[in-house]
Amino acid sequence: MFAYDFHTHILPEMDDGSPDVATSVEMIRRLREQGVERIVLTSHYYSENESVEEYLARRAAAYERLMAAPEAAEFPPLLLGAEVRLARGMADCAELKKLCVEGTRLLLLEFPYLKHADWMMQEVENMTYQLGVVPMLAHVDRFLAWGLVDKKQLDRIIGFEDAIIQINNEAVTDRLTKKFVKRLLKEDFLFVLGSDTHNLQDRAPNFHLMEDFLRKYDYEQPDLLDEG
Ligand SMILES: [Fe+2]
Repeated sequence: MFAYDFHTHILPEMDDGSPDVATSVEMIRRLREQGVERIVLTSHYYSENESVEEYLARRAAAYERLMAAPEAAEFPPLLLGAEVRLARGMADCAELKKLCVEGTRLLLLEFPYLKHADWMMQEVENMTYQLGVVPMLAHVDRFLAWGLVDKKQLDRIIGFEDAIIQINNEAVTDRLTKKFVKRLLKEDFLFVLGSDTHNLQDRAPNFHLMEDFLRKYDYEQPDLLDEG
């Protein structure tokens, strides 16, 4: 039913996501059970903490540990990516292109958890054209739920047509964000879904939420990974 999970913290010991391989294996098993066919691995990248090269080396090691699990033979396709925290000046860092979802120009970008400000979308626009990437704006619903964006800012974010909106599945469990998802559907915005799963407890794989909600709509995930 769901072609992709575009946002996950499944790679073991990379960030505040999966703490070990056994947890990662179970997260993948549950996503599969929920009808997800392909999974993008998007561990956090914070440019103030490490270089892109250092991150890529850590990521490769975590991926290797995961793929050494006996269950790996049963995994659906896993694609390497990153969740990049937006920072000023990023449009000048060509290295960031290496953090795009494997084989694509899609870059999952997360706004800082601050009151939304004009520089943020300005930087996103600069990155789009200077780096030649397609930003996927991570869980736009969360910034709405947390009161960090106002209506005008939200319109600017979703109105930037060269980016793609990513929505977390839990958006349909809250009145305000559910209304926002309905608007995206009604007005035909391009958006993709993610579990943003971090663990097996409070942030477990949760595509069942979207399945129940989307039954009433004819939503089809855009086939972004095949187009590249
Ligand atoms: Fe995330």
